Parts: sequence; C-alpha cells; structure tokens
Amino acid sequence: MIKKVIILCGGTGSRMFPVTKAVNKQLLPVYDKPMFYYPLSLMMLCGVKEFVFIINKNQEINFKNALGNTKDLGIKVDFIIQEKPKGLPEAFIITEELIKSKSIAMILGDNFFFGNMLTPIIKNSFKIKRGCNIYLYPSNNTSAYGVVEFDKKNKVKRIVEKPKKSKSNLIITGLYLFDEKVSDYAKKLKPSKRKELEIVDLINIYKRKNMLNIIKLGRGSAWMDVGNFSDLHSVSNFIENIEHRQSYKIGCIEEIALNNGWINKRKIKNRIKFNKNANYSNYLKSLIR
Ligand code: G1P
Repeated sequence: MIKKVIILCGGTGSRMFPVTKAVNKQLLPVYDKPMFYYPLSLMMLCGVKEFVFIINKNQEINFKNALGNTKDLGIKVDFIIQEKPKGLPEAFIITEELIKSKSIAMILGDNFFFGNMLTPIIKNSFKIKRGCNIYLYPSNNTSAYGVVEFDKKNKVKRIVEKPKKSKSNLIITGLYLFDEKVSDYAKKLKPSKRKELEIVDLINIYKRKNMLNIIKLGRGSAWMDVGNFSDLHSVSNFIENIEHRQSYKIGCIEEIALNNGWINKRKIKNRIKFNKNANYSNYLKSLIR
C-alpha cells in the first residue's frame, strides 16, 4: 500500500508569466482554495498521510503559510527544493532518501480530479507491489499530453509525449505510481530534445519490462490540468458550479481529515481560527455543528 506521495509543485509556470514570477503556479487560487489543495485532498481521500512537496527556491514559506499547521490536518509534509526544473522524473532522484526503497506515488500539483468512483479506483490501485501504474483519461487535445498508443490487440504499444498526431485519444494524467526501483531507473534516463528528463521515458522502461498497469478513469469522471489562464478559469468555474449546487466543498482538506478520523473537532476549531472570517471558515463551522 502506498504510504507516501510526492506532490510536484515545481516548474517555472512560464505560460502564466507575469503572475507566476513571484509565486509558484500551484499556490494560485482555483476558485476558493490554493490549487495544490485539490491533488492533496484526492490523496488524503485515498488514505495517504505523508507527503513530499517538491517546490521552487524561496517558496517554502509560501506553502507553509498556505497549509498552516499540518498537525491540525493529521498529515506530515516534507519540502524538497528543486533548484532548476529538469523534468518530472527528477523528482525521484531528489527524493531518493525520503522514498527509502518503497513504492511511491506522484501527483502533479496542477492536476484536478473529480468523480464519485475515483477514490475507490485509485485506492485499490495503490495496493500495487511491483511495477508502474498510470491513469488514463480521454482527451481531444492529445498533442498537449503524454499519449498511450495501442496495438491491434489493444495492448499498450508505447507512450509518446505530446505527439503531433495520434490515433489514440487516451492521455496520461498527472498521477503516477512506481515501485521501489524508480529512483535507479530515473538516474539512468537521458535528457530529451527539450533538454528534460521525460516521464514517458520512465514509464516506457516499465512497459518494456511488462510491468506497466493502465487504469482508465471512466468518462463519468472529470480530469483537468491548469497549464494556462483559460484552464484556471475552467477549473474554477467547474468547482464553483458544483459547490454552489451541492453546498459541499470540493477539496476541503479539513473535512477529509475529520471523516478519516485523523483529527478531532478541536483541530477543526484551530482551522477556523486560521481561516478567520473567510467563507471557508463558515463551511468548517458547519462540519462540527
Ligand atoms: C506533463 C506530462 C504529460 C502528462 C501531463 C498531465 O505534461 O509530461 O505526459 O500528460 O503532465 O498533466 P506538462 O503539463 O508538464 O506539459
């Protein structure tokens, strides 16, 4: 069972300059919460309590401020600074000490997942002992993502990063699970033409060893990532719509911790103090009424 998850909050966010000149993209608001609350909350829903945040230089204080006291959330967070973004697999090299030769999951801090069945599907997939899991979602914009190509027998042929054209419409979301060999494999990767280590190259190593599992997220679920301002608005609108209609919050980390039995009502009261007179606090109050 996966115990620890890397939340990748590095990158230059250059497509969102000048806004991301001063802060990491993953700290920007997506509707009423910082962006990274959403991937964090999904992992908490899956029962994970230990996190490694990979962040840019000078950003640790900002993430700490946005999280508040993690003891009030029943989780443990370590921070690792990425000096320069050199591609997603670098995460497994710079966290090698923390991974301690165990299976590990990684989720990108700008990825948003939503859907009733997601938690049981992902939780079940976290039981993996060996190999690599990737989570696929249908998209009509395959040239923006890693794409899974299939042979005539419908078996995975290969994974291609941002192909100009593809017959497949199944893309890789930013959630990955790797066994304890991942740091060793990552160290052997060579930079691609865009001078980065590529996550698809790492996945293809597992594919060649017949150790790649694909998990298709059904069309009834939602997956979006925030690459630009238009995405930021789309995801924010989606969340606002659902929250207004249901009166439940999406990605409320305190609610998940409480439901998981990790914290008690006193901790929620601390979080109400932390969020002062924000609407978020009203929601927290409703949880312990
Ligand atoms: C990265 C990965 C890509 C994946 C995507 C999901 O792309 O390289 O394979 O499909 O995340 O969000 P990026 O968003 O860094 O361009």
